[in-house]
Amino acid sequence: MKATAIAPANIAFIKYWGKKDERLRLPANGSISVNLSNLQTITTVDFSADYQEDIVIINHKKDKKEATRVVEHLNRIRHLAGIKNRAMVVSQNNFPTATGLASSASGFAALTVAAASAASLNLSEKELTILARQGSGSACRSIPDGFVEWFEGKNNETSYAHSIFPADYWSIRIITITLAYESKEVGSSLGHKLALANPFFKTRLLRINEKIKRIKRLIKEKNFRQFGEMIEREALELHAIALTSDPPIIYWQPETVKIINLIRLWRKENLSAYFTIDAGPNIFLVCEEKNLNKLIAKLNKIKEIKKIIINSPSRGTRLISKHLF
Ligand code: DP6
Repeated sequence: MKATAIAPANIAFIKYWGKKDERLRLPANGSISVNLSNLQTITTVDFSADYQEDIVIINHKKDKKEATRVVEHLNRIRHLAGIKNRAMVVSQNNFPTATGLASSASGFAALTVAAASAASLNLSEKELTILARQGSGSACRSIPDGFVEWFEGKNNETSYAHSIFPADYWSIRIITITLAYESKEVGSSLGHKLALANPFFKTRLLRINEKIKRIKRLIKEKNFRQFGEMIEREALELHAIALTSDPPIIYWQPETVKIINLIRLWRKENLSAYFTIDAGPNIFLVCEEKNLNKLIAKLNKIKEIKKIIINSPSRGTRLISKHLF
């Protein structure tokens, strides 16, 4: 059976950083995100007795390292469905992978929904998020619509994601600013691990539930200024943990700091925009729709920027009828 799904990437406002169970990918804390309309992965999965082994083609290439994680995920799905057939998986991002924007969230969300359907599993949205989480933690947040909360949970069944507001609830824009290509060596995996032994991480966890409550209220009230201030502090906190881990991880490049300073300067000039940053050097700039054009004009003048992509809040992952093969 063959099925195809399209999934958005997502950006976290309150970050997932640290795992309390590495095998199940249970996070050390809950997180809040929004799906991004213009960073998408499309994946087709076909289970058939005709395949001798799993074949995994991502962006037109066979990638051994990625394939191992994909096959592990297919095994989870085969186990649930009670099937033995091997699969052909073809996956494509609609954004250039060289832009260095995280694709594991959209990748594993699309893979989960396509493979579950191709294996004739009839899963609820909640069950799909639980499954996606085991492939890549942040992928569970790409399945429900719009603004999403991932509950930390105590075990496999209670760590899942759900939509807190639909995509059209708040017309913010998220501009992804690619400054440098992300190096695979300092991806998020190492950061997640090192955080656990970092003494500052305990302090972060003491305050995190309060932060989650507050950000949900600020989104509900559409309080852009306080929301923006909060997402910046949260991003800086993640990087403070990374910088003080042992060994330290420095995800930023000089261009990252340059753009941070410019965004803060623009605010002084009454052009309101705030940043968030994941485990890499690139910046996600969040603004209200009314300021989008002014900000784009400013960004277009900065020579260090390799690419910008403008996103709105988006729906979650869904099946589509057009297959990739
Ligand atoms: C910094 O979801 O990539 O983007 O579960 O190991 O696949 P794995 O980690 P991943 O971690 C994402 C970390 C982050 C913050 C976030 O998206 O919440």
